[in-house]
Amino acid sequence: MTVDEKVGQLNFYVGDLFNTGPTVRTTESDKFNDLIKQGELTGLFNVHGAAYTRRLQQIAVEESRLGIPLLFGADVIHGFKTVFPIPLASAASWDMQAIEKAERVAAIESTAAGITFNFAPMVDISRDPRWGRMAEGAGEDPYLGSQVAMARVRGFQGESLSEAKTMAACVKHFAAYGAPEGGRDYNTVDMSERSLRETYLPPYKAGIDAGAATIMTSFNELNGVPASGNEFLLRDILRGEWGFKGMVVSDWQSINEMVAHGNVENIAEAASMALKAGVDMDMMGDAYLEEIPRLIEEGKFEEKHLDEAVRNVLKLKFDLGLFDDPYRYSDTARESQEIRAKQHLDVARDVAKRSIVLLKNEDHLLPLNKETGTIAVIGPLANNQADMNGTWSFFGEAQHPVTFLQGIKNVASPNTEVVYEEGCDLYDDSKDKIARAVSAARSADVVIMAVGESAVMNGEAGSRSNIQLPGIQLDLMKAVVATGKPVVAVVMSGRALDLSWLDENVASILEVWTLGSESGHAIADVLFGDYNPAGKLPVTFPRNVGQVPIYYNHKNTGRPYDGDYSEPKSERVYKSKYRDVQNTPLYPFGHGLSYSTFEYSDIRLSADTIGFDQTLKASVKVTNKGPYDGEEVVQLYVRDLVGSVTRPVKELKGFTKVMIKNGETKEVEFEITSDDLAFYTIDMTHKAEPGAFHLFIGSSSERVKQTGFYLKN
Ligand code: BGC
Repeated sequence: MTVDEKVGQLNFYVGDLFNTGPTVRTTESDKFNDLIKQGELTGLFNVHGAAYTRRLQQIAVEESRLGIPLLFGADVIHGFKTVFPIPLASAASWDMQAIEKAERVAAIESTAAGITFNFAPMVDISRDPRWGRMAEGAGEDPYLGSQVAMARVRGFQGESLSEAKTMAACVKHFAAYGAPEGGRDYNTVDMSERSLRETYLPPYKAGIDAGAATIMTSFNELNGVPASGNEFLLRDILRGEWGFKGMVVSDWQSINEMVAHGNVENIAEAASMALKAGVDMDMMGDAYLEEIPRLIEEGKFEEKHLDEAVRNVLKLKFDLGLFDDPYRYSDTARESQEIRAKQHLDVARDVAKRSIVLLKNEDHLLPLNKETGTIAVIGPLANNQADMNGTWSFFGEAQHPVTFLQGIKNVASPNTEVVYEEGCDLYDDSKDKIARAVSAARSADVVIMAVGESAVMNGEAGSRSNIQLPGIQLDLMKAVVATGKPVVAVVMSGRALDLSWLDENVASILEVWTLGSESGHAIADVLFGDYNPAGKLPVTFPRNVGQVPIYYNHKNTGRPYDGDYSEPKSERVYKSKYRDVQNTPLYPFGHGLSYSTFEYSDIRLSADTIGFDQTLKASVKVTNKGPYDGEEVVQLYVRDLVGSVTRPVKELKGFTKVMIKNGETKEVEFEITSDDLAFYTIDMTHKAEPGAFHLFIGSSSERVKQTGFYLKN
């Protein structure tokens, strides 16, 4: 290979269908043809279609000098044409089988359309709902986040990358992209190495350990060094400590952006720094293509770094089987049979109903009777098809999703009258439509309010400084609630919202995130009790935005305060608290109700002391007190009471989702070893320290039974 051909293998462009950032080239298809022939492109992303990718592949294989096949990449973030719930939503299912199954379907559909390299899963931990990309991850917890990362990677990659129905996963965005200052996308990240390692790195590592073939760098700087030129992240941790043998891709022009960050003077320096640090593939930057050959010629860059990157890229193409059969993934017959196949939509409906979280259900208003006389369905998201696909749904089509209104009509009895009013617009502040909504509510037996965020209000570049219901939706809610009719709020969002007013004033609240193709059916399944909701929050819901960042696994501080202000002032004045809001969240991490009540027995431990090589068994009996069959996510938390460095007040260490029939009792058992108790100690070694621990089991991070044990040398 010539130096130019090598650099071409590192050069990755967006196709001509859509893009998510500034482009450096024109993106007419003809242009690609020449670039492919000249070997200047390793592949294209966000292109799809079996026939189209086959045509492009043919140019690469038959008309370029070396005949190296192209990679086709894409952001298949929550399904391809069959659209699944956004990742934050499916994380709320705490159901790893359901998640894996959905990603399997995503891979089957994508690969039929030629896509071999998926820019997912995004595994960035986020404790800040102002950040729009909270929608794309699994929330705030490193343990849950790691389980979800593994399930997604398994779903995309299956047993073998070379199979025609599997695609390479890409763990992103390495690293700590989910912790931008102020929750503003792309902003600076500054944190201790201990926080980085304890909270942010585990899901990336879990994805890599599950076999993810690739990883993407992030846009942010981390402690002064942009991720795309960060040797500490890419060499020391990723390749060194974790032994990653796969391929590293930059994010969109993130190599070039180092110039703006201000750690290099020009793109040549940026290219040189990124390639040396171990970024193999340059997404959309042209930095390698334009700079590296000249730098090598001038003796300013060692070709061995280029060779290493090219090897990683070619190995990926080999592993995908592209050298055996470059057309393996572009299968028009499969494409027409499999895309949006009935069984795929069934999976979408199943995972969607599992993603719904019942936040509140006063007086058992839900489930509704299918024979309810008149149901008023009100709100700007009620009859809204386009927004159901959610953020990052390039391939999902606007005419496909089942709206809330349609789903309710399909599932309610034909005798039930379903009336609809939009009530207000998502963007326009006019109150003209509120009066009609109020009169529809007055004539109904029950009102379902479909409110929340549109697809573009979260996701990339979707940060918000206000996390209440957007626009005048709260005014609409207030007017409808004032009718005194029973109201169910169905809240759609890509983040934790401030739902304080709703919590105080509305009988029942369902957090439905964004559910994709089968949105309406899934919410109707839950509203009418065909499915008993079992989702649990993967993120803390604050009382107001001023509490942010708020997360369950926080430290205790030297002046903890967990009171409700009822203590005498002298007891609470110099405590860690606000003067205008409690410290507790509105809804804690792990919270989610069922139509049944689950009763937990006291915790039984196999021992009160364990050694470093022993296993502690902790069990509880969970009884479904009825009146429905249902699933419960039983959660295990631990607190290390004294450490060489301070420890969080609780840390999730395990969970099990169990189906318990009405009236039935099941025993749930967890095992804990010293490995589960390890953390980064004062000298940054990862190990457990002997001492006393609290152990909690319960139905959320707050509703728990508690006991304790000792770890001894
Ligand atoms: C995003 C990535 C995405 C890429 C390609 C970037 O703007 O940060 O997550 O994979 O675009 O679409």
